[in-house]
Amino acid sequence: MLFYGKGRDFMKTAVIYKSKYGAAKKYAEWIAGELECEILEHSKGSASELSKCDLIIYGGGLYAGMISGIGLVTKNPCKNLVVFTHGNDANALPD
Ligand SMILES: Cc1cc2nc3c(=O)[nH]c(=O)nc-3n(C[C@H](O)[C@H](O)[C@H](O)COP(=O)(O)O)c2cc1C
Repeated sequence: MLFYGKGRDFMKTAVIYKSKYGAAKKYAEWIAGELECEILEHSKGSASELSKCDLIIYGGGLYAGMISGIGLVTKNPCKNLVVFTHGNDANALPD
């Protein structure tokens, strides 16, 4: 069973995102803000960084049907992984 609490007390959590036009970055910032956890841009992610986390939340836009940068979390072990993605409607972001 997973226990999650805000403020890093329960599970070390990081939101990692890859974003070309800023949509995944915005979603990642919302999620990390709600969870009060670390946020990292894809280029700062590494196998060693992933291994330090109990939960990784990975997000990237869809490009030709593929989630941008997803290899970071599929080719490296993650203890627990949540993935989010988004496509063409992301331009309808609220202010
Ligand atoms: C070259 C290209 C390919 C894309 N392919 C898809 C796709 O296969 N499916 C989809 O729903 N959206 C597709 N999109 C739309 C992007 O996923 C969308 O603009 C997204 O918000 C980009 O996220 P980002 O700004 O976080 O990188 C594509 C956009 C571009 C420029």
